[in-house]
Amino acid sequence: MPPPDFLPALLRPELAELHAYTPVAGDFPVRLDANESPPLLSAEARAALERAAAPEDWGRYPDARLVELREAIAARCGAEPGEILAGVGSDEVISIVLTALSRPRQGAHAASIVTVSPTFVMYKLSARARGMRAVEVPLDAGWDLDVATLLRAVEFARPNVVFIASPNNPTGALMSEDRLEAVIAAAKDALVIVDEAYIDFSPRDQLALRRRHPNVAVLRTLSKIGLASLRVGWLIGAPELVAELDKVRQPYNLPVLSQRAATFALRELDGELRRVAATVTGERERVARGLTELGLSVAPSHANFLWVGTRRPAGEVFDALAARGVLVRSFHASGGRLAHRLRITVGLREENDRLLAEIAACA
Ligand SMILES: Cc1ncc(COP(=O)(O)O)c(C=O)c1O
Repeated sequence: MPPPDFLPALLRPELAELHAYTPVAGDFPVRLDANESPPLLSAEARAALERAAAPEDWGRYPDARLVELREAIAARCGAEPGEILAGVGSDEVISIVLTALSRPRQGAHAASIVTVSPTFVMYKLSARARGMRAVEVPLDAGWDLDVATLLRAVEFARPNVVFIASPNNPTGALMSEDRLEAVIAAAKDALVIVDEAYIDFSPRDQLALRRRHPNVAVLRTLSKIGLASLRVGWLIGAPELVAELDKVRQPYNLPVLSQRAATFALRELDGELRRVAATVTGERERVARGLTELGLSVAPSHANFLWVGTRRPAGEVFDALAARGVLVRSFHASGGRLAHRLRITVGLREENDRLLAEIAACA
């Protein structure tokens, strides 16, 4: 059916380049495509979470100010509650940041963001959906920041926001500290978001950058550590920034169940979440060894997934694995150096064994 007559004239032109996010549908016995954690929470922890999540009154809105949740996040991250903005996943926090910080620089038609390539797609999608320009700077041959090119991009694009995921998705590794710091120093007129979605699987965090640079805010989430169903993510930033962003946040953005379960998990399940992270990192190293023994190239990972180089075109390996019931993530549609790369989320031990057996037959 053609769109209703009135619609084209109303739509933002940028929407023509965007697609709705639709995960691959189908019945795959092994899903290693979405960077969630496998179901490793103990039965006791799951029962305690269910008890903690239940609302006292189903008829009431949740706490609009997220008081307890922000206190629990702040205590965990060594921050003050006034430095925390919590959202429906870090996805919502990214969209709040971009809505609030979208004022074009003097003389420009639209505001810009700078990020790297490849990286998490929502930075660009969220920026484009708001009419902002997105400048992507390719990572270097070792999937690290290309500082010289980034500095040029910052100088010419004069971005409002710079997004750097570290560890990065889909490449897995932390960015070098000195390179990240050089970009932050060069972008001192912009907000630099250091996205630590995968920090629970990493040997170090980057919270100290916030103390050294007032233009840095850190993004975190519960999605990768076994609680993706809650959709809870947050930004840690200067209270003045958080107060402005809070004007854009929807009232009651986080449901009671998510607020309560997340608060409980942050306060009471620290040991359990650490155990989940340790199991995943142990499996990550085992799977990396297995893939390397099969002759595949595996980039060092500080996340809950592996960035794997394939001999055959990645699209063919993706299809062959899917036909064998194992869903991973391929970026071959982007072409270039991504045409031989797969991103494989670490699963349960038996899922990882199945992956290794199947990929041996088709990579
Ligand atoms: C780097 C990065 N940031 C943020 C997110 C979004 O996480 P959330 O589930 O909190 O929206 C992801 C999810 O894949 C990610 O890879």
